[in-house]
Amino acid sequence: MSAKDDFRRKNTSTEMLRAENRDQLDAVTLPWRQEGLDIALVPTMGNLHAGHLALVEAAKQRAERVVTSIFVNPTQFGPGEDYKSYPRTLDADSAALESAGCDLLFTPGNGTMYPYGLDRAIRLGAPAGLATVLEGESRPGHFDGVITVVARLFNLVRPQLAIFGEKDYQQLLVIKHMTDDLGYGINIVPIATEREQSGLAMSSRNNYLEKTARKSAGRLYAELKDAAKLLENGSSDYLRIEKESASRLEKMGFQVDYVAVRRAEDLGLPGPGDRELRLLAAVRCGQTRLIDNVGLIRVGISDL
Ligand code: PAF
Repeated sequence: MSAKDDFRRKNTSTEMLRAENRDQLDAVTLPWRQEGLDIALVPTMGNLHAGHLALVEAAKQRAERVVTSIFVNPTQFGPGEDYKSYPRTLDADSAALESAGCDLLFTPGNGTMYPYGLDRAIRLGAPAGLATVLEGESRPGHFDGVITVVARLFNLVRPQLAIFGEKDYQQLLVIKHMTDDLGYGINIVPIATEREQSGLAMSSRNNYLEKTARKSAGRLYAELKDAAKLLENGSSDYLRIEKESASRLEKMGFQVDYVAVRRAEDLGLPGPGDRELRLLAAVRCGQTRLIDNVGLIRVGISDL
């Protein structure tokens, strides 16, 4: 029996299927495609929390089959970032995905994702402007690595739709841009941020927070909501709102990297007539960098 047949046999039950490479992935997904089933992809780097499981749930509601990928992607980490120490919790992730009703867990290694090795890998370049501001400023090259790996996942899994959280709002826009620009025809579905009771946006890196810091970290979201209210109610003095919000966050004990009011569709600087905005922030809470954002629609600005 070939390795592929053996893999097929093991994967005929209703339990969550697993694939580690292209052959194993094709063995499962080709029959799905032949049956005309829609596939939703939930790309992750593992260390899953309730926010990821909400993405799986959203995927289940929108497609007949759900593939979750777990791959800690080296090309999106900068020098000195936490690639080596990024939590790898495959057993717990796998159990959580199985209970959430994921159909297939795809856990490729570097050899599957970058067959010529990292030095000889073809890399995509995210567009300046969208990808070089905000997170792109403090993490140069980060979004190049993100779209490089997401495009490869799209090519391997060939989903009809892919689900991404709004927590990483800039990532969502960059991925949408890449998907449209390269003509994938994949529907990018944004899902609202899942939050802890304190308001803190769920993130795998929250585990780096000490207990007390974790509680106070929720104040970032409270501040963003307050500032968003001022904007909703008509203030277009964006610079003042950014400055005052940053100063309140500093007083709460955060070290502010940025607080920025941007156009929701492309993160450009908004004019007084822009209606759909996004308020985004990055702060340090102790050693941990937190990012968060809220969307808002300005009252009294027509969308015509
Ligand atoms: O958001 C993430 O977890 C990662 O950036 C992604 C989209 C899985 C690409 O590695």
